[in-house]
Amino acid sequence: MRGIPAAADRKNIWITGASSGIGGALVQQLVNDGHFVIISGRSPEPLLELQKAAPKLTKVLTCDVGDDASMAQAGREITEIIDQLDLVIACAGTCEYEDDLSLKVDMYRRVFNTNFFGVVNTLHQALPLLMRSREPVFVAVGSLSSLVGFPRAEAYGASKAALGYFIDAVRADTAQTNLRTVLVRPGFVDTPLTKTNDFNMPFLMTPAQAANRILQGLADKRSVIDFPRRLSWPLKLLSVFRPVWFRLCAPRMTRIKKLRKT
Ligand SMILES: NC(=O)c1ccc[n+]([C@@H]2O[C@H](COP(=O)([O-])OP(=O)(O)OC[C@H]3O[C@@H](n4cnc5c(N)ncnc54)[C@H](OP(=O)(O)O)[C@@H]3O)[C@@H](O)[C@H]2O)c1
Repeated sequence: MRGIPAAADRKNIWITGASSGIGGALVQQLVNDGHFVIISGRSPEPLLELQKAAPKLTKVLTCDVGDDASMAQAGREITEIIDQLDLVIACAGTCEYEDDLSLKVDMYRRVFNTNFFGVVNTLHQALPLLMRSREPVFVAVGSLSSLVGFPRAEAYGASKAALGYFIDAVRADTAQTNLRTVLVRPGFVDTPLTKTNDFNMPFLMTPAQAANRILQGLADKRSVIDFPRRLSWPLKLLSVFRPVWFRLCAPRMTRIKKLRKT
């Protein structure tokens, strides 16, 4: 995946959530490596700006991953651009926290619509074109937060945990095919998504560092790409020794002292 590829190694790639953060950094590195990338997001402006750096190697395709009609239209448009996809990175995502366990179902639906159903929609549109590739790869961007139950992250963490199960099940179902499915679980990355976080974010990485880890993991043919290790290993340990998490860590992190009565 790294270095300018020979024409035969040039990949056709589709990235959702390409307009900023991790997706934007992936686009930059992939076009630098000479690949052709279809870049998606809901707003055209940042995508058009990104395209200026490599107009011949990028194609802007606006779509809302949580909107079935918009994704069906995107699927049709992609078939007009290329006849196969080698790599799809479902990176579009959103994050909403709740401070008071208000359990507003609308918010949960919004988060799941993008983070979970958006990835299902992306695979649905991409699969026929991926199956035309000799080595098709589908990547979903989850989160290390799905390893343990984080306070305030009921909706976000659950959507990413559901995504992890979905990818595992797709991997099981395609075990006899050449489709490779990959789950990426980043720790904290400095992007518009985390800009408003008002808590300490240990081992915060830049989007370029995150994109590097993802591309290296893909080159190493890993099926789960977790980073940074300094965060993923302790969280994996805590997911095994769950009482330690719930007795020692969670009480220090939750903002709830008392539950509302009405
Ligand atoms: N930053 C972190 O610390 C971190 C940690 C773990 C996992 N992640 C995951 O990494 C992925 C990328 O996040 P990021 O931090 O790079 O965030 P970001 O900079 O806010 O990027 C989010 C991208 O998703 C697009 N997007 C959002 N909703 C969409 C929708 N409904 N349809 C289509 N595109 C949509 C946004 O563009 P438009 O708004 O124009 O649509 C934007 O391009 C997400 O899945 C996130 O959950 C991030």
